[in-house]
Amino acid sequence: MTIPNPAFSTRCCPYGAEALREAALLIRAGEPVAVPTETVYGLAADATDSGAVAAIYSAKGRPSYNPLIVHVSDREMAERLAEFSPLASRIADAFWPGPLTLVLPVRPDSGLSPLVTAGLPTVALRLPAHPAMRALIRESGRPLAAPSANRSGSISPTRAEHVLSSLNGKIRMILDEGPTSEGVESTIAAPDDNQIRLLRPGSITADMLEQASGRSVVAVTNVDGTKVEAPGQLESHYAPSKPVRLNAMRAEKDEYLIGFGLMPCHINLSADADIREAAANLFAALHIADASAEARIAVAPIPIEGIGAAINDRLRRAAA
Ligand code: TXA
Ligand code: MG
Repeated sequence: MTIPNPAFSTRCCPYGAEALREAALLIRAGEPVAVPTETVYGLAADATDSGAVAAIYSAKGRPSYNPLIVHVSDREMAERLAEFSPLASRIADAFWPGPLTLVLPVRPDSGLSPLVTAGLPTVALRLPAHPAMRALIRESGRPLAAPSANRSGSISPTRAEHVLSSLNGKIRMILDEGPTSEGVESTIAAPDDNQIRLLRPGSITADMLEQASGRSVVAVTNVDGTKVEAPGQLESHYAPSKPVRLNAMRAEKDEYLIGFGLMPCHINLSADADIREAAANLFAALHIADASAEARIAVAPIPIEGIGAAINDRLRRAAA
């Protein structure tokens, strides 16, 4: 049976002082709000309120309680929530604010909802660069838990329209501040005593982490999703509803081809073969391909340099 009317009417509000105030009121009332970050749009709620965190899971239809990233507006807020080793501080100094999430020991007095950490002794913290997300944290006065603002398992949203088509009727408000700049989710890194474990590749690359910290970076995610330490990393994420073929040089019959560099294709991630531009366009291209008349999706080979590692990681999951 389908529900004749949505539970809420979802409002898409251009980012500005008034919309921000309203969004902060919703957050304080325990409601999730969709808000842009420099990576993807997040579905944000008060990380200290279990009811609010549960509302994120229910809006997303996320089947199990996976740990969420907690977003902060400054270092002081971060240090009230987690323990920073000298190595963690050095990395945060180098890359915050920005698209980097650090997995750190959670403080016993953090006040975070246990749903956010899913019972782990660590918390994933991020100090984003996007002004809308930072302003919402400041205005609501709360650390904000925020996974990507889409139904569980589907393609991440890099535009307000993507959020609306995925969560219409499930949330009250979307703060619209146009397309995001990075396009893939933040890098997740866990600084240990002597090394850094890379849990999810993103635009802050293993090389950049190594250079800034002087420590080695060990990738602990891999293609088949084994060797993970958090349940969310096992999910087949970023999945379009259609089959996806990778490393395609040309479209076969019934295929919508996502290209890279100069080549015949239906849509191009970057005709100039600019890897950062390709990352920013990736999820929007997958959304368009998924909505196209073709039955299948094909994607051209993408080099693995820099943020290309993150693009290939997301594509492998889309094709899994
Ligand atoms: O760019 C991003 O990071 C976006 C924007 C909205 O900030 N957020 C995002 O959140 O991608 P989400 O919930 O989709 O991804 C959270 C990831 C999951 O893979 C989860 O397993 C991992 O972070 N995670 C969370 N807490 C963890 C922990 N304590 N230890 C290890 N991994 C953790
Ligand atoms: Mg996600």
